[in-house]
Amino acid sequence: MTIWEAMEQRHSVRTYLDTAIPPKIREKLDAEAEKYSLESGLHLFFRYDDPAGFDSMLAHYGRLINVKNYIVLAGKKRDGFDFDCGYYGEKLVLLAQQLGLNTCWTAMSFSKKNVRRILPEGESLCMVIALGYGKTQGSAHKNRPLSVLAPDYADAPDWFRKGADAALLAPTAMNQQHFALGFADGEATLRVRGFGPYTTVDLGIAACHFEAGSGRKPRIL
Ligand SMILES: Cc1cc2nc3c(=O)[nH]c(=O)nc-3n(C[C@H](O)[C@H](O)[C@H](O)COP(=O)(O)O)c2cc1C
Repeated sequence: MTIWEAMEQRHSVRTYLDTAIPPKIREKLDAEAEKYSLESGLHLFFRYDDPAGFDSMLAHYGRLINVKNYIVLAGKKRDGFDFDCGYYGEKLVLLAQQLGLNTCWTAMSFSKKNVRRILPEGESLCMVIALGYGKTQGSAHKNRPLSVLAPDYADAPDWFRKGADAALLAPTAMNQQHFALGFADGEATLRVRGFGPYTTVDLGIAACHFEAGSGRKPRIL
């Protein structure tokens, strides 16, 4: 599966099958998490066969069902912590999708208490991403108009349009899509648009998609 197909086929999935993730797949996921942890200085890791992470009333009300595996986004708090958790977390989400797995970002619907217990002392928890073989493949989210998300779309070059198309496929908290892409002087820009929770994590996720779609990094405003 190409990265483009992974972005198109990824949708949040909240109910999981009992199927365990095979050792060969775990090896690939763990290797990539280690690589990105080194690159970013964050502590990004996969946790397998541990339902305690989603054993909470919030997971129940959020309808996250039978989650036994998840990705932990943590590390020492520093400038850019939330953005980088979004950016690198989504890279791991897209890899998981390419390997036939499903995911759901969760800021709220999990047990913070149980996940904090497995973190080394002094590390902050950003959030976690549910992982596993989904009961369904989920469904496509609605998008805000291009005139809001990427007002320069029509007059921009092909690479920018590909990046914007990819950014529109990105998951955002409550599907708020509080980001805006711009194109000026041959360069793409990306900024938070309006107010909402977790907009900086969302921005990192959108940047990851824009880059995967266009082959270029947007300048973050
Ligand atoms: C930063 C972030 C936090 C999220 N937190 C939750 C959550 O706590 N509970 C939940 O059910 N979904 C959560 N989601 C999933 C979003 O609701 C979902 O990505 C959005 O509705 C778009 O749908 P899609 O992922 O299927 O494209 C979160 C997504 C992001 C990006």
